[in-house]
Amino acid sequence: MSLYAIGDLHLHYQSELKAPGQLNGAVWKNHERVFQANCARLIRPEDTLVLVGDHSWGKVMAECEQDLDYIMSLPGRKILSRGNHDMFWDAKKTKRLNEQFEGKLSFLQDNYYAYRDYALVGTKGFTFEGPFYLDQHRHIVGWDEEAQQRAEKLVERELTRLRASFEAARADGYRRFIMFLHYPPTNILEKRSGFTDMAEEYGAEQVIYAHCHGESRFHDSIMGPYRGVNYSLVSGDYRRWMPMKVLN
Ligand SMILES: [Fe+2]
Ligand SMILES: [Fe+2]
Repeated sequence: MSLYAIGDLHLHYQSELKAPGQLNGAVWKNHERVFQANCARLIRPEDTLVLVGDHSWGKVMAECEQDLDYIMSLPGRKILSRGNHDMFWDAKKTKRLNEQFEGKLSFLQDNYYAYRDYALVGTKGFTFEGPFYLDQHRHIVGWDEEAQQRAEKLVERELTRLRASFEAARADGYRRFIMFLHYPPTNILEKRSGFTDMAEEYGAEQVIYAHCHGESRFHDSIMGPYRGVNYSLVSGDYRRWMPMKVLN
């Protein structure tokens, strides 16, 4: 039995692809078929695959049905967390989604899922992404402070949701945690954040995140061991559509 993770499938079986430049390189060509083949080779029925957000370009559930069918057809137990593009998923209606897809897909929001003696916890997260002001050497010399203040409110909301996830697991006796975010845990200005602090507070062993696309974004946040927690980026294009093994 193994635990795997990947993010950012950005499926669009029913919706028009209006992807920004960083989603259009060679790595995206037939990516859903490449990913499907990798899963078929790697993942056994008893395994768990966590999909860390940005599942579908569809704006409403009716535009996501084939994308979710594709995910359901993958091997193993599938747990989904929210990404910034997942418009079909109202965070306040996660319970309804879990009822609708019971036994087929599990949606991670304000709850947790057990894996061996671990609790898998998580939320979308949020990261300030600019606008940044650059000098002629492309060094950051400032940023939009109003946008940063708006971002701080969204970060607070996501931290509340993440704490609810940790607390639900802790109330059931779990003491070992793997934490999933869609956004990176820190923005490019930060060395630590509310998300890294919470991972440390609860003793999460790993933080898994996605959202960063294209070579120039892969190193926007923390990777590897940092202050007792191991951080991994699992965006699909970074992983070249090979799920990362998180735990045996
Ligand atoms: Fe994405
Ligand atoms: Fe994203």
